[in-house]
Amino acid sequence: EKNGFDHFMLKEIYEQPSAITDTYRGRLLVDDGIIRMAGVDDNLERFLNAKRIVIVACGTSWHAGLVAEYVFEDLARIPVEVEYASEFRYRNPIINSDDVVIAISQSGETADTMAAIKLAKEKGAFVFGVCNVVGSSISRETNAGAYTHAGPEIGVASTKAFTTQITVLTLIALKLAKAKGSISNSDFHMHLRELETIPQKVEESLKSNEHIQKVAFKYKDARNCLYLGRGFNFPVALEGALKLKEISYIHAEGYPAAEMKHGPIALIDEEMPVVVIATRKGHYEKVVSNIQEIKSRQGKIIGIVTEGDTSVRELADYVIEVPDTIEALTPLITTIPLQLLSYHIAVMLGKNVDQPRNLAKSVTVE
Ligand code: M6R
Repeated sequence: EKNGFDHFMLKEIYEQPSAITDTYRGRLLVDDGIIRMAGVDDNLERFLNAKRIVIVACGTSWHAGLVAEYVFEDLARIPVEVEYASEFRYRNPIINSDDVVIAISQSGETADTMAAIKLAKEKGAFVFGVCNVVGSSISRETNAGAYTHAGPEIGVASTKAFTTQITVLTLIALKLAKAKGSISNSDFHMHLRELETIPQKVEESLKSNEHIQKVAFKYKDARNCLYLGRGFNFPVALEGALKLKEISYIHAEGYPAAEMKHGPIALIDEEMPVVVIATRKGHYEKVVSNIQEIKSRQGKIIGIVTEGDTSVRELADYVIEVPDTIEALTPLITTIPLQLLSYHIAVMLGKNVDQPRNLAKSVTVE
């Protein structure tokens, strides 16, 4: 049941440290310096010979696919395309027999994703599934796969499925990077060690809950909200916006921070909250200047920042701190405050958090 939490969504947000641990247990062998995943090991040649990887999914799972695009390309140097399953299936896609298709689905029952898999198989591609529900239709239809071990996800808004999908995909990317030699030994070991600390860092991030509740109270009456991020955290911005719209019915959009000036900046005024993922990594300075652009137009800024940050704090109306980690792993941490923010806003607005209007947990019709 809900284990003392008011909603399944909150319970599932808090389960993430253990869900991530369960997902890498037996796979991430830090002391031995190896990643063991039967579904990948048994098909290693297919992965290594792939000229590209095509990821198909819907909704939050599609966002996990976008994070994976950054991780695979950065670490394993394999070109990745991420497709909405619903678009892929109807546009006569070019699929080669040496393509690897990765289908991501929490439920394993999503109709569009299933149809995309069937099409890819017909064209001779090797299809690998990343599902949460054991024995689901998609897990049976795919040629091989790796389960996320998130446990049952009841809330319609996907939370722990997302972070465990990213965990599995990161493990695969690291494994392929090692096999291809596209990562140095020391970098590989550093990533393994760091991945093992993620559950603890998610736990740390959850400690901001009360502070996030205050931020939620401040912005709960907004009509619109923007989410910005760059690089690995651009998909996290999309996911943050989806979480807010599906459970609070506030209109929200996610953008790569630098796209602001190509249109969305016109929306900014003193009524517009802008959530900016601004961890002290890769594009930090550029994100800070994006924040300045918002500030000079009176936008309200909520910064998701690395512990101890000072530059964003000076500019932002609120900051929410998260622990530091290596760049490729930041999505696993920066997602947490965004989930909590949308949760609290929806609760304050009196919405049905676990079963939002018009939505079903698995979308088995097209
Ligand atoms: O079960 P799946 O992962 O295939 O579901 C895909 C989407 O329907 C799902 O992620 C949906 O977007 C969620 N409600 C998002 O929170």
